[in-house]
Amino acid sequence: MCSNIAVLLSGNGSNLKAIIDKGTKVSFVASNNPKALGLQIAKNANIPSYSWKNVSELEEEVLKLIIEYNVKLLVLAGYMRLLSKNFVNSLPSKFIVNVHPSLLPNYKGMNAIKQALDDSAQYTGVTIHYVDEGMDSGSIIKQNIIKINENDTEETLKDRLQKIEHRLYSDIIKSILIKNQ
Ligand code: GRF
Repeated sequence: MCSNIAVLLSGNGSNLKAIIDKGTKVSFVASNNPKALGLQIAKNANIPSYSWKNVSELEEEVLKLIIEYNVKLLVLAGYMRLLSKNFVNSLPSKFIVNVHPSLLPNYKGMNAIKQALDDSAQYTGVTIHYVDEGMDSGSIIKQNIIKINENDTEETLKDRLQKIEHRLYSDIIKSILIKNQ
């Protein structure tokens, strides 16, 4: 498959790694956090990587790079900033996807796993959705549910959710790229 994606991240980049390992071509990776471990994952895979602490500058540069690299899908993988309305509206609809560790619309925003535990929720899961200008509010593409065990901690739950993310997100990205070809 030769369709290009670009990835925005702020942290560990385990989803980026899963996407690379599944064979999807990543044109570039960009981050608002110069110390993000995900940037190192990109470098190790010989993928151009960029960082700008200033989010307006990042958005401006990423829009230029999307054209330069002929990117077909922008993938958020642990990008911890809300994209501006202007940025989202500069791109076609259904151009940006995100993965979130809850069953949206439940537990939007930061600390979704802790929110579910604090709420004594019986179930939680992973949501893959298109990104609009709101916070975790775009249309849902796929959800995967899991039961929360009595003895689950944030760490154990995160571990199980991330295993699902790594499989589900890369599969969905591949199928969107095939559908859009
Ligand atoms: C994931 O759990 C994802 O659901 C959330 O941010 C986390 C990123 O993890 N949006 P990683 O950086 O891919 O390891």
